[in-house]
Amino acid sequence: MDMSTHGNMQVVGPYPGLRPFRHDEAEIFFGREEQTDQLLEKLQRSHFIAVVGPSGCGKSSLVRAGMIAALEAGFLADAGARWRIADMRPGSQPLTRLAEALLAPSALGQADAADPAEAAFALAMLRRGPLGLVEIVQEARLPPCENLLILVDQFEEIFRFREQGNADDADAFVALLLTSAAQRKVPIYIVITMRSDFLGECALFLGLPEAINDGQYLTPRLTRCQIEAAVAGPARVFGGEIEPALVNRLLNEIGPDPDQLPLLQHALMRGRTRAGQRGPKRDWPRDATAARNDVGLQGRRGALRSAVQPCGPGACRPQRASATDHKGRHVPADRARGRQARYPPPCARAGHCRCRECTY
Ligand SMILES: Nc1ncnc2c1ncn2[C@@H]1O[C@H](COP(=O)(O)OP(=O)(O)OP(=O)(O)O)[C@@H](O)[C@H]1O
Ligand SMILES: [Mg+2]
Repeated sequence: MDMSTHGNMQVVGPYPGLRPFRHDEAEIFFGREEQTDQLLEKLQRSHFIAVVGPSGCGKSSLVRAGMIAALEAGFLADAGARWRIADMRPGSQPLTRLAEALLAPSALGQADAADPAEAAFALAMLRRGPLGLVEIVQEARLPPCENLLILVDQFEEIFRFREQGNADDADAFVALLLTSAAQRKVPIYIVITMRSDFLGECALFLGLPEAINDGQYLTPRLTRCQIEAAVAGPARVFGGEIEPALVNRLLNEIGPDPDQLPLLQHALMRGRTRAGQRGPKRDWPRDATAARNDVGLQGRRGALRSAVQPCGPGACRPQRASATDHKGRHVPADRARGRQARYPPPCARAGHCRCRECTY
């Protein structure tokens, strides 16, 4: 298998494609050094951070491969050298997902597979009240200098969950997060990522707007220079070199498109796949002329179309769509006047789909 020979052997290629970067892919994560430092600084001051930004701007990647990777490497020694990480998405069972994330070995769990009785007990404690999470961490008796960071990725999923008649559980989930971040008895840090078009909805939850006002981080777009690093850096880790002309062409074709990063990843991954069909992928992108053809975006629109339809025709159609906005995106009738709402896709590619019509 094509793997990085430097450091972490779990990195199997220079470009992750449409999915976000993982925390163990810091080695191939470039262009976000400044933002990572800013997040670490924020975390030093606040126990609650909301990383917001438009769809696909790189929030999840920044938190995982930037901030969490830096914490694990000991870059925030003042707050304690060791970090336990509970990584979750609310989905349709936020409290259960939180209990599972807490019992993972990277967080407070002891074994690889959580004992169902333990999971049921953790869930019951979370349901007892807003201090449930603090009590679980207290009982876990973390050694001194160890912290727990809870990442709630795609926090916007909580709004759909709430809308579906689960207001009590949604409120309980948010109260657990806010209460844990507000106390100082045990070192719990909360980081959420959320698409910025859901910011207004945060007022539905008591205390959440205040917490977001204090701990908001609006994710900036990568500058041209940072994008160059994001393209050329990972290739170098894998022993390749991307010609400046190819980087330039990519940057020019993608331009200021809001889907800049997914498009870029899509094009680069496609380039490697095509090259792999001709021979060992490791030769790519050394052969710059071939690489240019492999990556060829065929015009921005063509690339965008294929990039946003990774699940197959019709797979991600919203279930209640009844209107479209000026860009042809589906807008449910009950939201047509407000922000664009996206509904879950009936597809099995949760976490990978970059389709405009789904939140996943
Ligand atoms: N620094 C980076 N360099 C290159 N590609 C990146 C970088 N950050 C993110 N990406 C790519 O951009 C795309 C979107 O990233 P990510 O999923 O992290 O964004 P997001 O803001 O969390 O998206 P969503 O709004 O869907 O949650 C992915 O294809 C990812 O691989
Ligand atoms: Mg994300």
